[in-house]
Amino acid sequence: MTSPVLPLLSVRDLVVRYPARGHSGIPMTAVRGVSLEIAPAGIFGLVGESGSGKSSLAHAILHLSPPAGGEVLFRGQDLAAMKPSQLKAARRNIQLVFQDSLASLSPRRSVLQTLLEPLDHFRIGNPATRAEKAAMALETVGLDPALRHRYPQELSGGQKQRVALARALVAEPDLIIADEPLSSLDVSVQSRIIELILELREKLGVAFLFVSHDLSAVQRLADTVGVMYLGKMVESADTDTLFERPAHPYTRSLMAAVPVADPSHPRPAVLAGEPPSPLTPPSGCVFHMRCGDKIPICSTVVPNETFVCGETGMCEDSRRFKTISHRVRCHLWNVTKT
Ligand SMILES: Nc1ncnc2c1ncn2[C@@H]1O[C@H](COP(=O)(O)OP(=O)(O)OP(=O)(O)O)[C@@H](O)[C@H]1O
Ligand code: SF4
Ligand SMILES: [Mg+2]
Repeated sequence: MTSPVLPLLSVRDLVVRYPARGHSGIPMTAVRGVSLEIAPAGIFGLVGESGSGKSSLAHAILHLSPPAGGEVLFRGQDLAAMKPSQLKAARRNIQLVFQDSLASLSPRRSVLQTLLEPLDHFRIGNPATRAEKAAMALETVGLDPALRHRYPQELSGGQKQRVALARALVAEPDLIIADEPLSSLDVSVQSRIIELILELREKLGVAFLFVSHDLSAVQRLADTVGVMYLGKMVESADTDTLFERPAHPYTRSLMAAVPVADPSHPRPAVLAGEPPSPLTPPSGCVFHMRCGDKIPICSTVVPNETFVCGETGMCEDSRRFKTISHRVRCHLWNVTKT
């Protein structure tokens, strides 16, 4: 019997709250009890509309904005209980590529200075070997090491994105949190970054939390997908299951927005309007104001997380000979099962 693999990262019931601003006096809850797991060398794709809390979750995993509740376990160890030296080691092992690459690439630092910064900070190698490590990281992401003397403003969008990935890689992490690494790149560059991420997982065993609006990129890359709406994880499953049998009306609407080759194929309605403000979230199901499938209970009662595949949450997929876990927060699944 094989022993179950210990998750590399476990996030449990994470809550992120920002202090009240202006006259409202109300703190803003951006992430409302989100849980997820990432296996060693796994790729977890996180999707959801703008403002759903993806970046807030990514930052809270690293305790950049300390969570208001919940736990983050890295290799089974709670980040909140770590001594400063242990937290520093964990931060070396979990690297974040910021959504805005300018946030991680200072215009006043050359590419080489940018890459040396984490090597110096985490005391990796010695001053003589650091420049060599930096050049190797550039080669790993497919950039000519001669670019190391350039400044970010002298690089293309795709090159900047690769430098941001190289900066994460020099620390030799086990996990990279890549927050929208494809945004603002053209399709051919996006495709090359996707290939690169798959290669880094394959060759170096790096795991990824891949945050993206782009469902087709997530489908190509991820093993597991989580869908966020207004701070909640409303559905999660392995990638094939989620794309073949989406269970939550929100996930189906997101998929309906992706262009398909055969427009005559019946599809759910594309989402209209904007999500409500997280400052004043609706009662009941957070999605009820935009849901075409809602039933009376939806506007008053918060749906619990339900396993789509029976009491244990696991079901056999005979076509792929594997056991899958598929979770959803929607009353329709509770009603169906009772
Ligand atoms: N530092 C902050 N202070 C106060 N509110 C914040 C802060 N950062 C984010 N928010 C708010 O938290 C909510 C979630 O924002 P977040 O950036 O996590 O969403 P997102 O899913 O990453 O969006 P996008 O896809 O646009 O990047 C939004 O309503 C946002 O305005
Ligand atoms: S709980 Fe109700 S409103 Fe929410 S997604 Fe399900 S059917 Fe729609
Ligand atoms: Mg974001």
